[in-house]
Amino acid sequence: MEHLQTQGIGLPQLGLGTFRMQGEVCRAAVESALGLGYRHIDTAEMYGNEDAVGAAIAASGVARKDLHVTTKVWHENLAPDAIRRAFEASLKKLKLDHVDLYLVHWPSRNMNLPAIFETLLKLKQEGRTRAIGVANFNLALLKTAVEEIKAPIACNQIEYHVMLDQTKVARYLAAKSIPLVAYAPLAQGRAASDETLISIGRKHRASAAQVALKWLLDQDGVAAIPKASRAESQRANLDALKLKLDDEDRKAIAALPKDKRFVNPGFAPAWD
Ligand SMILES: NC(=O)c1ccc[n+]([C@@H]2O[C@H](COP(=O)([O-])OP(=O)(O)OC[C@H]3O[C@@H](n4cnc5c(N)ncnc54)[C@H](OP(=O)(O)O)[C@@H]3O)[C@@H](O)[C@H]2O)c1
Repeated sequence: MEHLQTQGIGLPQLGLGTFRMQGEVCRAAVESALGLGYRHIDTAEMYGNEDAVGAAIAASGVARKDLHVTTKVWHENLAPDAIRRAFEASLKKLKLDHVDLYLVHWPSRNMNLPAIFETLLKLKQEGRTRAIGVANFNLALLKTAVEEIKAPIACNQIEYHVMLDQTKVARYLAAKSIPLVAYAPLAQGRAASDETLISIGRKHRASAAQVALKWLLDQDGVAAIPKASRAESQRANLDALKLKLDDEDRKAIAALPKDKRFVNPGFAPAWD
């Protein structure tokens, strides 16, 4: 699988999302994914599943150096001392001595961005996280982080799928060689029943979900982290990498309405 090179780390282009899986369900799903060859796991303190992710990693026998683990600090913990506490708690639950990527999960309206990045950078310098990054940053926030603060962010993790246009942010990230990590890449599962994707899939003996994923993964600098609890879906999502979409397919996907944002919590700053 291709790795996106960013800020000294190689980010496997396809990862496993773990939101809304906890306990034994999460442990089993992560263990299954690692067995199938996934080497990129996405979690967060807010998901309440870092302990289950950690247990699966420990049981997998996968060498730490071959594994990429992302976790995130919640928007209520963005003061420097709170970041520290949240980070230590995450590492402990994950049973790891470092993570590969530590992200600001959501911006908050009253956050102190320079202080946040100073704290994250210290964690990086201490070798506790190999790289730092952000999630849910709109264009204005990204520009502040990159151009004013000059924070070495390794990605912006945002909602991105066939039903949502992200051209503005994607162009900026590409110009700065910062990967876009697509979350909800299957539009929270809705892509699987989209008629246009189903008919494209029929042509290639693939599923609609596979078409949706490959459309993302064909884009330079884009990674995706579909969540799948079932082994069949995990395998299907890996197999999507082999799919070859053509210009006609891309044209049909481009014509889909792209105004569907499914994740938009009230606490976050506006998108545009
Ligand atoms: N940074 C953020 O603020 C943020 C926000 C949201 C999500 N995320 C991350 O992104 C990950 C993915 O997003 P998401 O979980 O919201 O949505 P998603 O990955 O777009 O969709 C997950 C849904 O798709 C189903 N699915 C997976 N593979 C499939 C396949 N091959 N065929 C048919 N259905 C399939 C899953 O079913 P089963 O589970 O039943 O297999 C699940 O119901 C999260 O888990 C989380 O790690 C980050």
